[in-house]
Amino acid sequence: MAKNVLISSSLPDTAMKLIPADVTLDVHRGERPLSKPELIARLRGKHALVCQIIDTIDDEVLSAEPGLRVVANVAVGFNNIDVAAARRRSVVVTNTPDVLTETTADFAWALLMAAARRVVEGDHYARSGQWTRWDFNLLWGNDVHGKTLGVLGFGRIGRAVARRALGFSMRVLYHDAVRADAAVERELRATFVDQATLLGEADFVTLHTPLLPETRHLIDERTLRLMKPSAILVNASRGPIVDEAALVRALGEGWIAGAGLDVFEEEPKIHPGLVPLTNVVLAPHIASSSCDTRIAMASLAIRNCLAVLEGKPPITPVP
Ligand code: GLV
Repeated sequence: MAKNVLISSSLPDTAMKLIPADVTLDVHRGERPLSKPELIARLRGKHALVCQIIDTIDDEVLSAEPGLRVVANVAVGFNNIDVAAARRRSVVVTNTPDVLTETTADFAWALLMAAARRVVEGDHYARSGQWTRWDFNLLWGNDVHGKTLGVLGFGRIGRAVARRALGFSMRVLYHDAVRADAAVERELRATFVDQATLLGEADFVTLHTPLLPETRHLIDERTLRLMKPSAILVNASRGPIVDEAALVRALGEGWIAGAGLDVFEEEPKIHPGLVPLTNVVLAPHIASSSCDTRIAMASLAIRNCLAVLEGKPPITPVP
């Protein structure tokens, strides 16, 4: 049986080498992503699509090819795919959990540390030529060790972020729709609290929830005002979980002290009010972008795609 696969953006060689010779490939190698009409046209005659979070896979795209059997997203998040529509059409949807957990948690910590200790401001200052003598009063930041970390969303990544806090002797509070097992709470020394308590007590609030209708603007004016004026917000999950306009006011008017953001409401656009602020560290959605992890993500997406094409169960179907 024919196996025709569309890959919407080029993938590393290590992953591409997993694809056997009997698979016919169509790889989009352009700088810009495929537009919706291009995606629909290229999908015709394909049995599988390997796509990225910048590709919107809605019902119209899925309807382009009745023979489509699998959409393999090269990401853990899958809010770019209409999963219900895929199910109706018997198209399997897969994502890439686990392989990026630790790398993403590392980066959430990089943002937390950079915002707390003003690393980016220090970098700009050191390069600027303004640094003429050691200065006792220069760039005082916030301590991290011994403080309270609040983790909103206690899945794989949230827990990996919490585990790192043990090394900084932090108190860890978490909130999630589902409370973790007592063994997990013990191991991570994490305490389940309601969201308002977490926001009110945490020195650092880090977001690790998926983007769902109920998590959109979870952090808005009301919830930002619950945070301490000394608190720092970290978002390495999905941009629309934070109301960026409210965050701009919170950072500008001192409702909170700072933020570290890897994700934005309308990527790649960044709210213009964020750009001039020195108390926010901005990154271009790179939390899982280490060499090893990007290869692991691409390889898992390819293996998911091949499994379905071979009539086997996918390795990591979306829940
Ligand atoms: C990246 O944002 C991912 O969902 O893997």
